[in-house]
Amino acid sequence: MTQEKQYIMALDQGTTSSRAIIFDHGGKPIAIAQKDFKQHFPKSGWVEHDPAEIWSSQASVILEAIAKVEIKPKQLAAIGITNQRETTIMWDRDTGKPVYKAIVWQDRRTSSYCHQLKKQGHEEMVTKKTGLIIDSYFSATKIKWILDNVDGVREKAEQGKICFGTVDSWLIWKLTRGQEHITDITNASRTMLYNIHEQQWDEELLELMDIPRSILPEVKSSSEQYCTTAGDVLSAKIPIAGIAGDQQAALFGQRCTSPGMAKTTYGTGCFLVMNTGSSPVSSENKLLTTIAWKIGDEVTYALEGSVFIGGAAIQWLRDGLEIFNHAKDTEKLATSLDGNEGVYFVPALTGLGAPHWNQEARGAFFGITRGTTQAHFARAALEAIAYQVYDVLHAMEKDAGDKTLEMRVDGGASANDFLMQFQADLIRSKVRRPKITETTALGAAYLAGLAVGYWKSTEELHDLWEEDASFEPKSEEKEMKDKLHFWHKAVKRSMDWVE
Ligand code: G3P
Repeated sequence: MTQEKQYIMALDQGTTSSRAIIFDHGGKPIAIAQKDFKQHFPKSGWVEHDPAEIWSSQASVILEAIAKVEIKPKQLAAIGITNQRETTIMWDRDTGKPVYKAIVWQDRRTSSYCHQLKKQGHEEMVTKKTGLIIDSYFSATKIKWILDNVDGVREKAEQGKICFGTVDSWLIWKLTRGQEHITDITNASRTMLYNIHEQQWDEELLELMDIPRSILPEVKSSSEQYCTTAGDVLSAKIPIAGIAGDQQAALFGQRCTSPGMAKTTYGTGCFLVMNTGSSPVSSENKLLTTIAWKIGDEVTYALEGSVFIGGAAIQWLRDGLEIFNHAKDTEKLATSLDGNEGVYFVPALTGLGAPHWNQEARGAFFGITRGTTQAHFARAALEAIAYQVYDVLHAMEKDAGDKTLEMRVDGGASANDFLMQFQADLIRSKVRRPKITETTALGAAYLAGLAVGYWKSTEELHDLWEEDASFEPKSEEKEMKDKLHFWHKAVKRSMDWVE
């Protein structure tokens, strides 16, 4: 009897949708299922998800993906999980019921507490231990908020009856019917409670934020057989064998496995991550030091910088101002001009992220004249994405002390050739786009597949990365420097706008 073909399934639980993708041995996606879920904005600056909906949407796409290719669950050699990071869920250990909604990474409700921590002089200690800056972005202050504001939760937590988890932990709890309360080291490194040097939860930080140790999950590596799915989830018990936060998974999926290799995901925002090898590089330029993955006993570190508004700038021009109908129209509009004709857009629509970290900055167009058309707006928005990525990459290169030889790209806007060419021109390095841009899910699949021997070695995975297009710097360096001069002038003005 011939053995049935085996596959790996990746669960990609993102900020706006849950996805399940089945990959074959060549790393090709053979089935994709996706379900959007509701975003809750109960107050200004608050963003919540319903943990039950996170699970139900994820569970339904698992079944849908399997049905699409008509395979049997037992043909899944393993499941890998990747997820929106930092988002905080707390649930009752006995009943498995969430005690509050999931507080999403974008949620700013704990900003003033973060200011207070900074004012009290804790920033240096926090950064030294966690590699992060004090910000409401990370899980710690969200956990504290739930403990302090939801009736009865602190008391139960003190009695060991509450679990905290990032979304990976929550999914594993559900997939194992409450048997496992674990996370992986990449997700732990985004909580602001994990010491990335000692590789353990940090007592001093827990004490500072008054968070009981008992609520925390056990921290595992990113690639090992943690457990299997419970018998009633699928008709076979499938090993869960890979976990990584989505940006780290994308770095792995892009095969950026040597120090100095970097990837950018052009999504709603832009996430840049650079592999810095086996030792953490602390940033002098307001970037985050984080854990890229742990395989076996080996920990790989990374530098990370996030741009808040990337593709969202295009969405805003399309849906908010109705300047064009489709995001892909921007390429034609942008190339209908010979240059930007002096029009610059700073998309500080929600403040500015790395390397500025300025919450007060506001969006602005500069250089508009009576000759300005929709093409100028489209071009300025695309260029703005590239300038922001340049700024973060430039900061990374300064921290890492080396120039990036190439940047690998994925995410929706990486399909825009004008943007990719302009990006290469700005950063003066090659920009490479892979054929398979599902790199986040692919990274999680690789981590799981390695753990169960589906793929034998990381070398084997290198051969699976295939190029779709590459962009070399073409424009004169001087021209790009001039453009950057005006861009930085515009950024400064948008930061000065609110006193
Ligand atoms: O840090 C937040 C990030 O992990 C969210 O990613 O792709 O769900 O927007 P995404």
